[in-house]
Amino acid sequence: MRVCPKPRGTVPMLRDRLQTLDSEWRQAPRAAEFERLIEERLGANRVRHSISVTKVLHLVAGDLGLDTDSAVSAGLLHDSCKSMKNEAMLDAATRYGIPMNETHWSKPNLLHGHIAAELSRHEWHVADDSVYEAIAWHVTGHPGIGLLGQALFFADFSEPLRDHQESDEALRLYDAHGFLPALRYAASAKLEHLRKKGLLIDPNTEAFCAWLETQDDV
Ligand SMILES: [Fe+2]
Ligand SMILES: [Fe+2]
Repeated sequence: MRVCPKPRGTVPMLRDRLQTLDSEWRQAPRAAEFERLIEERLGANRVRHSISVTKVLHLVAGDLGLDTDSAVSAGLLHDSCKSMKNEAMLDAATRYGIPMNETHWSKPNLLHGHIAAELSRHEWHVADDSVYEAIAWHVTGHPGIGLLGQALFFADFSEPLRDHQESDEALRLYDAHGFLPALRYAASAKLEHLRKKGLLIDPNTEAFCAWLETQDDV
């Protein structure tokens, strides 16, 4: 993977662009449908977060030359299963044949990305495989995921409604050094947070961080 940093001085700061291009993402063909869908499934705070992720992802996807309509679908639907109860989560994972590791049994909520990816494909008829992959791996990351998945991981971590200061730093790094350094920072800060709190760490989270270090920077 080779991602060029944006030329400094020619592109407005990401945070400014988020304000000035507030609703451009709503032009995506299925934006209204998926916004209604998450309003029915999620609480108000989670809906606000999902829209904020969608705005960041829409802009980053544009910068990286990705399909912005796919970005809007991935952003809006990524947490669509976050409110499911643990038992329903495990039932759905079994039904869809989602491979589970030890951390999933202890903390079924880690499956919410994989289940949302399956529902997106089978129930909501999102045919784009890059959307499926991005949603599936947004919680932990995964070595080798495509650019849309990487961008969703970054947007989910850095969207401005997040109350941790690392979100600001990730946005700053994006503007100062480009996508890959900002994503590396987001992935390692998330891992560090889990370690500090003594929380269960999915092996994919560590593997994703290590993989990002092997990717080409420019
Ligand atoms: Fe999530
Ligand atoms: Fe999220």
